[in-house]
Amino acid sequence: MKPENLNEIVGSDRNHLWHHLSQHKPWQSADPMVIVEGKGLRVKDANGREYLDAVSGGVWTVNVGYGRESIANAVRDQIVKMCYFANSSGNIPGAQFAEKLVDKMPGMSRVYYSNSGSEANEKCFKLVRQLAALKNDGKKHKIIYRDRDYHGTTITTLSAGGQAQRKDQYGPFTPGFVEIPHCLAYRDPRGDGPDYGVQAAHDLEKVILAEDPDTIGAVCLEPITAGGGVIVPPEGYWETVQEICTKYGVLIHIDEVVCGMGRTGKWFGYQHYNVKPDMVTMAKGVASGYAAISVMVTTEDLFNEFLAEPSEKLHYFRDISTFGGCAGGPAAALENMRIIEQENLLDNVVEMGDYCLDRLHELKDKHEVIGDVRGKGLFLGAELVKDRVTREPLDESLVAGVAADCLKQGVMIGRTNRSLPQYNNTLCLSPALICTKDDIDEIVSSIDVALGNLAM
Ligand SMILES: Cc1ncc(COP(=O)(O)O)c(C=O)c1O
Repeated sequence: MKPENLNEIVGSDRNHLWHHLSQHKPWQSADPMVIVEGKGLRVKDANGREYLDAVSGGVWTVNVGYGRESIANAVRDQIVKMCYFANSSGNIPGAQFAEKLVDKMPGMSRVYYSNSGSEANEKCFKLVRQLAALKNDGKKHKIIYRDRDYHGTTITTLSAGGQAQRKDQYGPFTPGFVEIPHCLAYRDPRGDGPDYGVQAAHDLEKVILAEDPDTIGAVCLEPITAGGGVIVPPEGYWETVQEICTKYGVLIHIDEVVCGMGRTGKWFGYQHYNVKPDMVTMAKGVASGYAAISVMVTTEDLFNEFLAEPSEKLHYFRDISTFGGCAGGPAAALENMRIIEQENLLDNVVEMGDYCLDRLHELKDKHEVIGDVRGKGLFLGAELVKDRVTREPLDESLVAGVAADCLKQGVMIGRTNRSLPQYNNTLCLSPALICTKDDIDEIVSSIDVALGNLAM
């Protein structure tokens, strides 16, 4: 595209688009960023400036990197042949992807398509509510979620959201959602104890007992919390959650919208732990952003609860997602999965993730402002503090300044963003699963420079 046309595009964007998560006031006097092309980990903006994208499309999505012609071709071929039919009927890539997906998820068996992470999570909430109505006179309808977790942007997924700033001004919320504490050792006075993971999980049991176990249908958790500050659960946490849920007949819903499809070095984040989910949701990395697709996967046992004689008119999952029938989604997902397998990307994630974590620890040794470094695979965070002893968080504006400085240097990094009052102080890294040591060195050295420039 000619530069003069790009100027027009930027003008149209400034005059007519309403960007996500953005205050538009600054764009009355400056241009918004418009991304025009990408290859591998690099993207170019409308001014021709190139950036190394360390956050896979801003929100940990483009797992296999930009410019994958084979995914584009798979989508093209599919939509020319058969673009769409409501998912009350099947389609070829939908069936093929479902089979390949459950192959990677022992114990899971049924795949339900929709088109965003929020929507997939809502499906699970509806399943829990309907199951309560079918089996328990509606009693076991409550859903537990955790402080600092995020499950989506709709009113009901916000009702299950543990990020107060995301919820602020959007209430009233859907009733029947109950919060448990987070499990971030660095921010919990109990965090240094050897059995912290078990203790933190017992917070769940306390809430179940306080609410009455007969009213609790499910617990919805991120396997590793993403936007709430990259929180890897402490040892023993998930295993204890599993024991508690089995004891009280509570279903486990794991939100893999960020961790899903390789980000942590296994296909799914929960597979690092000894836990058996009843429902798993995923979206972003399923097709790396090449198509909009989200998925709820359940066990066969859960699915069987909805089998009945057709004469029982309301005893089936009466839910639809129009765009869950887009055949381009599973076509993209199949090719995305093939790439991850063929290029051994899970191994690369483990190797590069360890390397990146080591490099971040080196930065921590050098910069007092880094209070904590954490992560798994290519899913990493560095929490910034004013003071290492008191752990007082660095102001959000200064954290934003670090990210802006990296951007000036040509590296896009992420940060916890207007989510948690006081704790918007974690820098986030989630480069594509194909990244190399050179990419990581470039990312880390830009943070090194930015922290050096930080005037506190
Ligand atoms: C863990 C988690 N769950 C759910 C969602 C919601 O996904 P979507 O934006 O596709 O609705 C997100 C989005 O960032 C997420 O991080």
